[in-house]
Amino acid sequence: MRTALLSLTFLLAGSMAAPAFAHTAAPKKKVTATTKKGKILPMKEYIDQLMAKMTLQEKIGQLNLMVAGDITTGGALDTQVGSDIAQGNMGGVFNIKGLDKIKALQEIAIKNSRLGIPLLVGMDVIHGYETMFPIPLALSCSWDTEAMKKVGEVSAKEASADGINWTFSPMVDIALDARWGRISEGNGEDPYLSGVMGAAMTQGYQGVDMRTEEILRANRIMACLKHFALYGGVESGKEYNTVDMSRVRMMNQYLPPYEAVVKAGVGSVMSSFNLIDYIPATANKWMMTNVLRKQWGFNGFVVTDYASIAEILQHGTAKDIQEASEQALKAGTDMDMCSNAFVKHLAKSIAEGKVSEEDVNIACRRILEAKYKLGLFSDPYRYCNTKRSKSEIYTAENRQAARDVAAETFVLLKNEGNILPLKKEGKIALIGPLADTRNNIAGTWSVAQVPSKYTTIKEAMEHALAGKATLLYAQGSNIWRNQELQKNGESGKPINWGNEAEMKAEALKIAKEADVIVCAMGESAEMSGECGSRTNLEMPDVQRELLAELLKTGKSVVLLNFAGRPTVLTWEKAHVPAIMNVWFGGSEMGDALCDVIFGDKSPSGKLTTSMPKTTGQEPLYYNHQNTGRPVADDNEKFAKFASNCLDVSNGPLYPFGYGLSYTNFSYSNFRLSSQEAGISNEEATEWQDGKKITASVTIKNNGSRDADEIVQLYIRDMVASISRPVKELKGFQRIHLAVGESKEVSFDITPDMLKFYNADLKHVIEPGDFQIMIGTNSKDVKTMKLSVK
Ligand code: NOJ
Repeated sequence: MRTALLSLTFLLAGSMAAPAFAHTAAPKKKVTATTKKGKILPMKEYIDQLMAKMTLQEKIGQLNLMVAGDITTGGALDTQVGSDIAQGNMGGVFNIKGLDKIKALQEIAIKNSRLGIPLLVGMDVIHGYETMFPIPLALSCSWDTEAMKKVGEVSAKEASADGINWTFSPMVDIALDARWGRISEGNGEDPYLSGVMGAAMTQGYQGVDMRTEEILRANRIMACLKHFALYGGVESGKEYNTVDMSRVRMMNQYLPPYEAVVKAGVGSVMSSFNLIDYIPATANKWMMTNVLRKQWGFNGFVVTDYASIAEILQHGTAKDIQEASEQALKAGTDMDMCSNAFVKHLAKSIAEGKVSEEDVNIACRRILEAKYKLGLFSDPYRYCNTKRSKSEIYTAENRQAARDVAAETFVLLKNEGNILPLKKEGKIALIGPLADTRNNIAGTWSVAQVPSKYTTIKEAMEHALAGKATLLYAQGSNIWRNQELQKNGESGKPINWGNEAEMKAEALKIAKEADVIVCAMGESAEMSGECGSRTNLEMPDVQRELLAELLKTGKSVVLLNFAGRPTVLTWEKAHVPAIMNVWFGGSEMGDALCDVIFGDKSPSGKLTTSMPKTTGQEPLYYNHQNTGRPVADDNEKFAKFASNCLDVSNGPLYPFGYGLSYTNFSYSNFRLSSQEAGISNEEATEWQDGKKITASVTIKNNGSRDADEIVQLYIRDMVASISRPVKELKGFQRIHLAVGESKEVSFDITPDMLKFYNADLKHVIEPGDFQIMIGTNSKDVKTMKLSVK
């Protein structure tokens, strides 16, 4: 991924060499946000004053965002980026790590540019800074909103201590097709869950609702909702591919999570690479202005994704980059990431009357407002605090938070004969190419990671077992038999390449000596993420073969499945007694795994994507329509002239919401406080007569361990003016139950939960019968009927 970004930077470097504007010779006039008494001016007044002093070129300069590349302290002014900043041609920079380097750039902006406007400093802090949390898909499997908030808080604390004031996160693209590598970066297939998790993360990053004028604290950063919109709908899961869907589908299934994050007060939004209604998102006025601003009330700024304005030419919807820039600005896109297009062409377009100066003013104001809310006008160096940089990054406290969250993300798929948890005794063989890698455990999008600080799975297990049991280790295999395939999935995170026969022999030798075998196998970190699409989601060849050989020893085998997506584990389910999906668990993954493998904690994660039986089932998702010829998911027999396939039955291998625990829970006494309800008024904001409808269930921990359970509420609209999904998640609760304890869990059923966008794109509730379902996953539910009049 990084290589791709860099090469694009070089590609664009040519256009950067000739800055659009010569440095204006206007006299230096700094504007400070404070009055003489040291009090900050109100935002509008301050920005009015500032903009009155800005030239057109300086306003356009604010709309420009570039990667800062290899700027080093002291030399910055001599570089293109440095001189662009000095000339007022840059509103922000991104993906530069190191407080000194960032401070040097900020100093150029403050001291050398005419008006001294501070820079936005962005970074892809996607799931942690140096303290890395699990990949977002894994995080979503925690179903823990407080944990998500904490992830945002800790990430913001560390990034802000190191000069960053803006992150390109959260990503809430609904992904139904596991072939798409970026499924790893979002919250899975459910719109409601994704929205709730994205909103929590945003609150964690920002600490304030940026729709207000409240200033962020210095240990918080601005979030960026992405990729707006529908990027997860790429055909066949192929990266950067075409998206085409009905507006009804957009509104009901793809857009709700973005709306939830806007309503949580996110400060910025990133446009996506794909087409929407055959118009590139970056130039799509309906999406960027009508939906985002007019319908949802977003008042921050929109930044493009990497070189998206330039890509409009590739899409074939603009004849040249000048026209592409005009389209983007007019659509409501405010900031240009890495196309260098606004800064080079907008002045000309204004002179030619193709865009209005007012459009530039609006975009510029939005960016200045963000800088104001980040407190940069009162103290441009508030994110450049050397003391914080030395004391607040990768601390014991932050690491503990990452370890705790990671333990909640592992999903136990199978545990025959209760092999897990393992006892700390005898000889344990740890085998697999992911067992002793330091640079892969954090997963994709770990730009700020420092692998040398992290502990591998092997090291963590050695530590956990010290003095109690013996750990035997062998890498056992490469990721793939074909080295080129392995390299494709490395992107700067190499995994040791060894002789296949020798590695296998060594693994079989220690397996024979051991009492139990733990396999750390699956995908490498960059086999998912940006440009990580795959057409075959099975365990890579050599690893599967080694696994089969290890099983032949007759020893107990536990598979820790590393994955950035739902992979196909059909063969593994049939042959391996214990399987846990461990995704990529972040910098503290090793210790977190030991907490779970050795039973200090019970696994509690639940899938947020359906796991397929075979790749050909993709896109596979639980909240599908019924079709005119439905076949139940659990119908294993082929049904002629019905909606199913000859060779594989419809259902997933493991359903959405699924995950085992070391204990077991029973669900009983499911009830609805009333099975009838009336709609109060046209908006249906509440039930008639202020009635409350509650769905309740009693859950008991019947096993021998205290543990968490994730209780899930689903609803189905039986008959409506458009076909509705067979079920949709509408609520969930993560509860803790001690051994023998039972709890009543209740959900308020609100009219809002029954609403959907109809064929006229109106958000409506239609009277009729609804199924209310509660269960431990999307398949195993108890059902009751609710009639709405
Ligand atoms: C491209 C990716 O699509 C986006 O998610 C990321 O934030 C930007 N590059 C910046 O690195």
